[in-house]
Amino acid sequence: MSAPHSTLTPPLLTARERLVVALDVATAKEALAMAERLSGRVGMLKVGLELFCAEGPAFVRELQTKVPVFLDLKLHDIPTTVRRAMEAVLKLDPRLINVHAQGGPAMLEAAVEAVRAHRAAGGRTELLAVTVLTSLDREALAALGHAAPPEELALAYAKLAQQAGCGGVVCSAWEAATIREACGEGFHRLTPGIRPSGAATQDQARVMTPAQALKQGSTWLVVGRPITHAADPAAAAEAIVAEMQA
Ligand code: C5P
Repeated sequence: MSAPHSTLTPPLLTARERLVVALDVATAKEALAMAERLSGRVGMLKVGLELFCAEGPAFVRELQTKVPVFLDLKLHDIPTTVRRAMEAVLKLDPRLINVHAQGGPAMLEAAVEAVRAHRAAGGRTELLAVTVLTSLDREALAALGHAAPPEELALAYAKLAQQAGCGGVVCSAWEAATIREACGEGFHRLTPGIRPSGAATQDQARVMTPAQALKQGSTWLVVGRPITHAADPAAAAEAIVAEMQA
């Protein structure tokens, strides 16, 4: 079953379109320079909370003239506040936006309502829900009152997000196959923690190669430092696209 508003379901996405680069840089200047180098070589650029807080909506507008943007703001508040915040950021018409599934059904539905209205008016944004942050291990979840292991909770949150009408989830590639099986192919999985074969894992603990992640059912792969810290980011992106195609 796919989410009712999810018309972007791209069964024929190319490897390049599936590659999302995390722009974890501090300034608009650095971000725009990186966008210039990666334009036409990757599917999307991910702008996180740090960059958005530092540089704001005008910067995102400029960035989107070069490469489509995934606005990784992970909204989480009461339903009315999330709907209004969503309406405000949807003016930027990012390709992807997200909220925390932990905000619960009413909050997810409020976000979906805003996205549906935006799409009905010609917008193209797809809404994803963050399942369980990978920084939360079993012990941290227990401290928060969750007895279930992270994988189980992630699946429960994915089902909740789908029921509310979200287009997919942000999850670990290790959970992508289970979520695809439970929620169907049309319910997207965007997975960070991707490392090309042979690359340093840095602070990521449970990584997968691009090929493994695709096999597990990732729709979009988020790669940051292996591209942004490479001596030649464009060549690094091309190598990952080639690895995905292979
Ligand atoms: O540099 P790297 O490839 O590790 O960057 C991954 C990006 O994905 C970062 O922006 C990171 O914050 C984000 N992310 C993650 N794990 C999650 C959720 C988001 O690594 N569970």
